Amino acid sequence: MRRKLIAGNWKMHNTLPEARALMHGIRERLDTSRAVDVAVFPPYTLLYPMGKEIAGTPIQLGGQNCHYERKGAFTGEISPAMLVAAGCTCVLVGHSERRHIFAEGGDLLSRKVTAALDAGLHVIYCVGEKLEQRQAGQTEHVIGRQCSEAIHAELDASRITLAYEPVWAIGTGHNATPEQAQAAHQFLRSRIETVFGPHVAAQMRIVYGGSVKSSNAAGLLAQPDVDGALVGGACLDAAEFAAIMAAAAAGSAGVLAR
Ligand code: PGA
Repeated sequence: MRRKLIAGNWKMHNTLPEARALMHGIRERLDTSRAVDVAVFPPYTLLYPMGKEIAGTPIQLGGQNCHYERKGAFTGEISPAMLVAAGCTCVLVGHSERRHIFAEGGDLLSRKVTAALDAGLHVIYCVGEKLEQRQAGQTEHVIGRQCSEAIHAELDASRITLAYEPVWAIGTGHNATPEQAQAAHQFLRSRIETVFGPHVAAQMRIVYGGSVKSSNAAGLLAQPDVDGALVGGACLDAAEFAAIMAAAAAGSAGVLAR
């Protein structure tokens, strides 16, 4: 069975005192039964101190982005090896803000995925269509293309998670309905099956992101192909984030009990 993953993408938020307070709040509310995997993605400057804050807990630390080279003259960039050295076990690649604000395209993202996996990181590779693409009926075409641009059979699938994040749902308060999320996740799982075969497709986690909050998490997480959530705005509030973790844990307990 796929364990649910609740991941908090802090984006460009929090100074050190704010981050410590948030992490304290998350730790206090952490479900120690560990029915759910939890990861946080703070800004680079907070990775070391947050690594210390989560020491001894099951919370994973991740980077929000990385470069594809190990080192070199790349002003302003961070390598996968640097993330590992800072205590990260995972990294986001291809978040829609990287794609659409910073114009990161398929070739670049493919190199990042490969480099991050080579460095030993677990990759959360994000895909998602824009509103006009959904309205034009191009959702599967777009997310299928984004998937095949970076995910291929030579990669270690056991360290890849997909995130379906429709661009129109990110930071807007308008989440995809559970049915829309399920349809996209089912489609992505079928693409993974084409690349890696049915065993890997059954194992790979596909998480949903886009305006996830405590009030909609349970419905989204109840979908059979929704294996967790990548949470932006709501993860900056420890009580909200904890309520989403609790919704995932309750759903997992239900599955286990059946
Ligand atoms: P949001 O962000 O929850 O604020 O919509 C999600 C994300 O960008 O990962």
